[in-house]
Amino acid sequence: HAPVVVAIDGPSGSGKSTVSRAVAARLGLSFLDTGAMYRAMTWWMLANDVDVNDPEAVAVACGKPVIVSGTDADGPTITVDGRDVAAPIRGPEVTAHVSAVAAVPAVRVRLVELQRGCARVAERGIVAEGRDMGSVVFPDATVKIFLTASEAARAERRAAELRAKGVDEATIVAMAADLARRDAADSSRATAPLTQAADAVLVDTSALSLEQVIDRITTLVAERA
Ligand code: C5P
Repeated sequence: HAPVVVAIDGPSGSGKSTVSRAVAARLGLSFLDTGAMYRAMTWWMLANDVDVNDPEAVAVACGKPVIVSGTDADGPTITVDGRDVAAPIRGPEVTAHVSAVAAVPAVRVRLVELQRGCARVAERGIVAEGRDMGSVVFPDATVKIFLTASEAARAERRAAELRAKGVDEATIVAMAADLARRDAADSSRATAPLTQAADAVLVDTSALSLEQVIDRITTLVAERA
């Protein structure tokens, strides 16, 4: 019996991260946040003065950083060259440039290999979240989920998250604009754009509670595993 792979894709603000971690914890599976890997790569490029708007320069440099993702659903970790970057990769500078770095094919080749490696060593199986988990990285996944939510629901969730962190309203508005720009870039790029795989199950979370979404996905996994 092949280990379970649950592939979860969707735009930012669809509830992907919260849902993916919760499903992994509930099923006792490993968890992989592939967005964190693209963010870690971007953080390293910025820290080393690589011009992130120059795809050639990014392609040449992307083999250098050693990126390691811990896959424990209770406390995923991410390091670059041994340094814990969990906090800085969520900052505005990385967020502003990550889509450009993620669009470079050489970056994707490298990180996809790391992602498949994480799945191979996950004993009980893995929940992997990102933009191309079902379409490119894990074509034979046990279950593929495409998570969406209305534009309004996504914006509202993001704003609530930021407000809870004490972020001011002007920054919240600016971050909403940045999010829309990032989703457009991720959906329109040439290599591995955000797209629903033909065999993925569409789950619209706009009117569902977190519990309802988790139940829906764990039921699908139970039916197919
Ligand atoms: O999921 P998160 O918002 O942290 O992802 C950050 C960025 O990483 C996305 O906007 C996208 O450009 C890139 N990404 C990607 N492929 C993935 C996961 C993330 O291109 N599988």
